[in-house]
Amino acid sequence: MAAAPVPTPDAWRAADRYLSDTLVGHDPALEAAVAAQQEAGLPAIEVSPLSGKLLHLLARISGARRVLEIGTLGGYSTIWLARGIPRDGLVVTIEAEPFNARVARANLERAGVSERVDIRIGRGEHVLPTLAGEEPFDLVFIDADKESNTLYLDWAARLGHAGTVVVVDNVGRAGRIADASSTDSMVVGTQRALAMLGDDPRFDATALQTLDLKGWDGVALAVLT
Ligand code: DHB
Ligand code: MG
Repeated sequence: MAAAPVPTPDAWRAADRYLSDTLVGHDPALEAAVAAQQEAGLPAIEVSPLSGKLLHLLARISGARRVLEIGTLGGYSTIWLARGIPRDGLVVTIEAEPFNARVARANLERAGVSERVDIRIGRGEHVLPTLAGEEPFDLVFIDADKESNTLYLDWAARLGHAGTVVVVDNVGRAGRIADASSTDSMVVGTQRALAMLGDDPRFDATALQTLDLKGWDGVALAVLT
């Protein structure tokens, strides 16, 4: 019997690739989105295929019709989310960089989901208050500047309803999340978000570490009480 693999980056990437090949497979629209994003010079920090499918399944499992995404980048996770809601549902996705939003718009059109995605260009802190008068959101995906994570969680609670699913990306940060003396503003912002998810009675939350094509990270999952 061969020895069990040790979790080196090569080994966990091979395992991630196996799972992606088996459960996600070849997806031309998503692959084109990643290629276009790379061509445009955007950073390759979109979620992994399996994490994208997790978002998609969370939307379906929760019966979400209205989804809020904070941090569009090139629209990769936006495509996954939009595919998980009904045709008459809506993903509102907030992107601070107009150039990223243009890349995302083309990717969403190519994927055939642009009619149920509304890209709002601007910083979350400015755009989120404008959503307060709208119907509440059923799922919120937070994947933007980590320094603002607690602000985004507060808005998720205000713009959602009891039962709204809240997902926060990048809560592992290659293990640095456990460093209480970290001065990295992205780590500190994420630690504050996790503390809020643990302490604030509006949330009931957990988190899972991830070892995937994007490295060692994690995702937090919460429901609004
Ligand atoms: C970073 C941000 C992300 O949303 C991500 O998935 C990975 C890295 C970053 O800013 O470093
Ligand atoms: Mg992210």
